[in-house]
Amino acid sequence: MKDSMQWVWTNFIETIWRPFVKSAKSASLFILIFSLFFTALLSLFFFKTTSTSTVNTIPHYKYPKRNSEIQLDCTAYNHNGTCPSHNPITYNPQEANQDRSSDATCPEYFRWIYEDLRPWALTGISKEMVERAQTMAHLRLVIIKGKAYVETYKKPFQTRDISSLWGILQLLRRYPGRVPDLDLMLNCGDRPTVESSKYSGSNATSPPPLFRFCKDDNTLDIVPEINIKPWVPLLKELEKANKKTKWLNRAPYAYWKGNPYVADTRKDLLKCNVSDKQDWKARLYIQDWEQESKKGYKIYIEGAAWSVSEKYILACDAVTLLVKPRYYDFFTRGLLPRHHYWPINPDDKCRSIKFAVDWGNSHQKEAQKIGKTASEFIQNELKMEYVYDYMLHILNEYAKLLQYQPTIPEKATELCSEAMACSAIGLTKKFMMESMVKAPAKSWPCSIPPAYDPSSLYSLLKRKSNSIKEVEMWERKFTKNQENKHS
Ligand SMILES: *[C@@H]1O[C@H](CO)[C@@H](O)[C@H](O)[C@H]1NC(C)=O
Ligand SMILES: *[C@@H]1O[C@H](CO)[C@@H](O)[C@H](O)[C@H]1NC(C)=O
Ligand SMILES: *[C@@H]1O[C@H](CO)[C@@H](O)[C@H](O)[C@H]1NC(C)=O
Repeated sequence: MKDSMQWVWTNFIETIWRPFVKSAKSASLFILIFSLFFTALLSLFFFKTTSTSTVNTIPHYKYPKRNSEIQLDCTAYNHNGTCPSHNPITYNPQEANQDRSSDATCPEYFRWIYEDLRPWALTGISKEMVERAQTMAHLRLVIIKGKAYVETYKKPFQTRDISSLWGILQLLRRYPGRVPDLDLMLNCGDRPTVESSKYSGSNATSPPPLFRFCKDDNTLDIVPEINIKPWVPLLKELEKANKKTKWLNRAPYAYWKGNPYVADTRKDLLKCNVSDKQDWKARLYIQDWEQESKKGYKIYIEGAAWSVSEKYILACDAVTLLVKPRYYDFFTRGLLPRHHYWPINPDDKCRSIKFAVDWGNSHQKEAQKIGKTASEFIQNELKMEYVYDYMLHILNEYAKLLQYQPTIPEKATELCSEAMACSAIGLTKKFMMESMVKAPAKSWPCSIPPAYDPSSLYSLLKRKSNSIKEVEMWERKFTKNQENKHS
């Protein structure tokens, strides 16, 4: 039953999306796709690290005087079903906009926030635009004076809305007084639904702003594609294992483990497995993901949509062989080919994989550096703090564009951590308790770097595509040489 529903859903999405896949790049500009909560949750769950900065270095940040932890008040909530009134603290624009020049700058990938909001940069966002997104949304989230209100339009798949909303509530707890009033539509599906082609041309209406926070295939979902282990222990394990396995002792093959039946491109990948006749230097297994640190090269290939395994693969010191993805995650645009990963041509996977492994085996130092750069990226730039900060910044920038003062929709209900957690049971409860923010952050959010100017954005994209093209050229040369050898 679940499978057939998944199938219907996938096909439905596929039908509306497929024709526009070619323009996915521009479409992506019109969509706020962040699998943010996915990541937030993963990280919430997994990076249970707390803020490292100290309060003392930022004397002008006024924390709530109650220095204590923010407790869940389930007794009161269960008594009369109302959210506590003291919590969280109201947005204060003066405080929120204070000069923060002494702060650490957020990672480079935060600059994409401006690109995602670019379609509305000139016009701003009107109430009409937001409401036009309603037909595509699962729910509407309004935040007013630090309180969250939700109107549900349709029930999303599985429990994805829960993880997203829980994340928002935790953000409000982490940064009391810093989340502005806002009004947004949220879709919890896997794939982008706002088609750019509908909104281009001289007389076109502006696209409806639609958030997509949840693409989580893990934790609360019932059919995880892969077996996720908690992130903090995993990262530590990986770090240890990475140290233990010297690069030179790593197996000189490209490894992949996963479920090939979710996407044609994955079934296609299986053709590259070693056989009596051919060795493309690929070793492919049908199986759940599991930690493997001894591999020199690991393949990342998208499934039905984007797959959670990317972070884990990048976190190993192995070189990630990235089969050119169609979808991206909020951080993936910060990755550079040949710097963080090695690009694999999706239309000629086997040859491309073999070339990559041969190249790496004969350029050990460079290959090793790629693996290291990627794992450092995951360890340093995808920390829990940054996931929250990304969320805060995107909401902030979005709210700046709103042309109206949001009001509580008639059918909305107030949402607070109590409303979600007090009655939760089992795994959901456990997940919530582990990921709950217990006190406001003790440090400022990082400051967002400036938007790309058109020419630097252009040259960045150009640099990326040239780097990939160069690899493709090497591959062609290599293939030609091989053919000459054999003839
Ligand atoms: C609900 O109960 C709490 C504590 O028992 C009380 O402070 C609050 O005023 C009550 N709210 C309503 C609407 O009755
Ligand atoms: C755009 O609108 C103008 C004025 O309403 C009209 O004259 C023009 O034909 C329209 N252009 C297109 C491409 O629809
Ligand atoms: C790929 O080849 C290896 C080695 O022969 C084998 O163990 C594995 O089962 C094969 N994988 C698939 C998906 O057939």
